[in-house]
Amino acid sequence: MHQESTKNQPRHIAIIMDGNGRWAKKHGLPRIEGHRRGAQAVRQCLEAARDHGLRYLTLYAFSVENWDRPEEEVHALMDLLDQFLKEQIHHMLKHKIRLRVIGRYHELPSNIQKRLREAEERSAEFTKFTVGLALNYGSRTEVVDAARAIAKATQAGTVDPDRLDYAQFRDFLYTGDMPDPDLVIRTSGESRLSNFLLMQSAYSEIYFSEVLWPDFDRSSFEAALEDYAQRERRYGKTSEQLQTPAS
Ligand code: FPP
Repeated sequence: MHQESTKNQPRHIAIIMDGNGRWAKKHGLPRIEGHRRGAQAVRQCLEAARDHGLRYLTLYAFSVENWDRPEEEVHALMDLLDQFLKEQIHHMLKHKIRLRVIGRYHELPSNIQKRLREAEERSAEFTKFTVGLALNYGSRTEVVDAARAIAKATQAGTVDPDRLDYAQFRDFLYTGDMPDPDLVIRTSGESRLSNFLLMQSAYSEIYFSEVLWPDFDRSSFEAALEDYAQRERRYGKTSEQLQTPAS
């Protein structure tokens, strides 16, 4: 699970899909139409990621903070998600794509939970390409959930608190069975991480794109890949150390 990505090709890309509302405003359409076009961009992005041989693609689809949006918008987002899952399950099974959900699952509407569980179970055996959907996700709640699980494991005697290190801690994160993202993309010109994969992106490259999410097409995705290919990842070391195999 912890192999490094090849030098120029990321193995795992995580995306903060932002700008649906501004896209709708720009086109004189209701916000919900922006989300609908955003869902279409998700489909395109999945294709592009698969064609480029990515192993993991994680999408920030709904944050723990998004519940505070107007009720009508929250409903529309859940409907879009339901529709997306209904149609994508066939596509995922056909192309052997695994679905993994990260976030507070049990607080999602029960119809969505049911679809997600079914999609996860039916795609669990696939290993080539995993799509992570961050739903009701927030890094801080993830860390709190990990701390709770570790406290319980300590009480049960399966974790020794004096020996707990990050390698063991990370197994308790929602992403425990996934590698950290090599590249985090945020669209729409905003330059922040907004409570997304904060632990996992400690050494990730970050790419901020001006493109609004509904317009983020294959060529935008490829521009991010090209940018990543130019980066030098040092993981806190110097360039010289990285060139010396023994270091
Ligand atoms: C941000 O746009 C986007 C979201 C709130 C979530 C992303 C949702 C989708 C791409 C659609 C449904 C997803 C799936 C997987 C079917 P915003 O509303 O914050 O845009 P703004 O900042 O311009 O207002």
